[in-house]
Amino acid sequence: MKQALQYVEAHFDDFLNELLDFLRIPSISTDPAYRDAVQEAATWLAENMRRAGMHHVTVYPTAGHPIVYAEHIEDPSLPTVLVYGHYDVQPPDPLELWESPPFEPVIKNGQIYARGASDDKGQLFMHVKAVEAYLQAEGHMPVNVKFLVEGEEESGSENLVPFIQQHKEMLQADTVLISDTAMLDEDKPSITYALRGMAYTQVEIQGPSRDLHSGVYGGAVDNPIHVLSRLIAGLHDEKHRIAIPGFYDDVRELTEEERALLKAIPFDEEAWKASIGVKEVRTEEGYSILEATTARPALDVNGIWGGYQGEGAKTVIPARAGAKISMRLVADQDPEDIAEKTRKYFEEHMPPTASFTFTYIHGGYPVTVDIHSPAMQAAAEALEAVYGKKPYFTREGGSIPVVADFKRILGLESVLMGFGLNSDAIHSPNEHFGINRFRKGIEASVHFQDRFAHQKKGAS
Ligand code: BES
Ligand code: MN
Ligand code: MN
Repeated sequence: MKQALQYVEAHFDDFLNELLDFLRIPSISTDPAYRDAVQEAATWLAENMRRAGMHHVTVYPTAGHPIVYAEHIEDPSLPTVLVYGHYDVQPPDPLELWESPPFEPVIKNGQIYARGASDDKGQLFMHVKAVEAYLQAEGHMPVNVKFLVEGEEESGSENLVPFIQQHKEMLQADTVLISDTAMLDEDKPSITYALRGMAYTQVEIQGPSRDLHSGVYGGAVDNPIHVLSRLIAGLHDEKHRIAIPGFYDDVRELTEEERALLKAIPFDEEAWKASIGVKEVRTEEGYSILEATTARPALDVNGIWGGYQGEGAKTVIPARAGAKISMRLVADQDPEDIAEKTRKYFEEHMPPTASFTFTYIHGGYPVTVDIHSPAMQAAAEALEAVYGKKPYFTREGGSIPVVADFKRILGLESVLMGFGLNSDAIHSPNEHFGINRFRKGIEASVHFQDRFAHQKKGAS
């Protein structure tokens, strides 16, 4: 391991420059205009993995964007780590709010600014470089590694589950390792043990059969924007609980022990509010910010449309209005069940003046991972070796649906060893990732592989 760590030190500038090249490729998976760029990012990554010394590097085409696979099998009797990550990124808009162009990475104050720097190219790339360090400096690895890297994470991962099902043998492993989450702070290494799930829906309201002059018809026609607004307003009650009938039926309440665990996490509510420019928060009554954002469900309108949005004024009653509504789920909620309950809410509350269409766009299950698994221990030891302190075990409110699929299809637990910060502005203008975190993440990955080899030996 020592030589691998020395290799990281000696080649860090190269690693950084390679990451900048990776970040220059605008692999926006949700926008068909970037199809070629997504493909290019897959090819670039595969080539980088080949040069790192990995075998069976393959860019698998799918019905959507390709999946990149690579492996290094040291010895079949050694434990195997399956690294998962995604090389696609979110759209960069609104572009005018970026201080430098999203796909022209720049380094400022020790941070790499670019779309995907933190989510997830920077974090994924750490593991590739850790393997390169072992293979180039030592010629062998303490474990076997496999990489499964998708290009559709930010757009619903439609082709990933079928791929996993069709390649169960190839993906056999002892644990999954993922860096696509956050740490509590620069000097507070963290392992995430729970993530929220997701039910993403869209509703469209149809009013009159065409747009109407609001002078000629106003006063007698139920405006679809108003219908939509009333229904959206009714989605929360005065305690800021979600008012969809049956929504909380399967919510597993926090135990006193879990609440105590969450309370023990250092969290500055004032700093949190200041960091996003809000004076007051609005949580479900009786729950703290941390509980409300990580252990309780949430419903948010992510987009809304209807009527005239251009310059100046237009006196119109629009024929249609719509909204994208997503819900963050916790154990033991089921995404399809929640989507269906949401559809029913709209059905039952739809006035006779309007009709609607409802679409369940995509979903994912919430997850809780075993914090006592050998891989968790290895991650905790790796982080302690790099940071000189024990990691925090945290819950997070974001979603990585494939974690539940790994468990269900391959029977594998995942380790979520993240190096992002909530202040990285992922999915937002000026996304960035710290150079120091990139370096420590590579070191932690090197340590993890070493510790996991030992853990497994001790266990068996
Ligand atoms: N890396 C994030 C998930 C994440 C963010 C986990 C912050 C923990 C903290 C991932 O790329 C993501 O954005 N996931 C989507 C999934 C959705 C499209 C199903 C999300 O959470 O919105
Ligand atoms: Mn991500
Ligand atoms: Mn993301």
